[in-house]
Amino acid sequence: MTASAASLLPIGVFDSGVGGLTVLRALRAALPAEDFLYLGDTARLPYGTKSASTVSRYALQAADRLAGRGIKCLVVACNTASSVAIPALAASLAPVPVIGVIEPGAQAAARATRTGRVAVIATEGTVRGGAYPQALAAIDSRIEVAQKACPLFVALAEEGWTDGPIVEAVARRYLEPLFIGPRPADTLLLGCTHFPALVTPIRRVVGEGVVLVDSAETTAAATAARLGGLGLCRGQGIGTVRLMATDGPERFARVGSVFSGEPIAPGDVELVDL
Ligand code: DGL
Repeated sequence: MTASAASLLPIGVFDSGVGGLTVLRALRAALPAEDFLYLGDTARLPYGTKSASTVSRYALQAADRLAGRGIKCLVVACNTASSVAIPALAASLAPVPVIGVIEPGAQAAARATRTGRVAVIATEGTVRGGAYPQALAAIDSRIEVAQKACPLFVALAEEGWTDGPIVEAVARRYLEPLFIGPRPADTLLLGCTHFPALVTPIRRVVGEGVVLVDSAETTAAATAARLGGLGLCRGQGIGTVRLMATDGPERFARVGSVFSGEPIAPGDVELVDL
């Protein structure tokens, strides 16, 4: 296929659920002329508590489904899948480029920190694999990283509980220990695409002095740069979004509306089986 024909294909985006819609939102802002095909693997969420081999297998199946529809690029809008499956996905989809969220998130945190101390919150799988400490060390080996797995944040976000006393109590339990001590981090990296939905209680717990970063905007910028370099950007027009989920289109629409910042009707979500 020629680059100009490929440039008309949509960008595939995938996550375990609705969390990746925070990345989709940034992608649409950065690349308004592009069409997007989003897949949330809601039937098998959460990914964050599963083994690396299971997450890789699920990610390959989701990518295969998107590739079967014809995509010009895959954005893995899930930190857990990005932390374990990028090499396998890139090999499986080649020559279609695959972009994960870990490197862009690490770049954003490295740019934000003034003290060189970064705290990372993510799923158990992302924390266990050490992808963020590795990515940050590759950018600047002097950066000190403290990590904390916050699996309940995924369940709260998927439930649509984005603020209130229960969410704040959970946030305090997870986050306060990270910021106690003589050398606390000045930057908190939200290393899970579900976590930006909880930014209000997180901000309340960590205070105004801590910079909060996530990978949405930097991933969108990395995607735009990669497509531009390959001559695959769509020049003009207003792009479309097609949404797919592996379970519960109604639930996806309801909770996804919060994540994407605009209403989603259940009829807009296609149910697919992987
Ligand atoms: N949103 C995903 C991430 O960025 C994972 C959530 C989950 O399925 O556990 O890691």
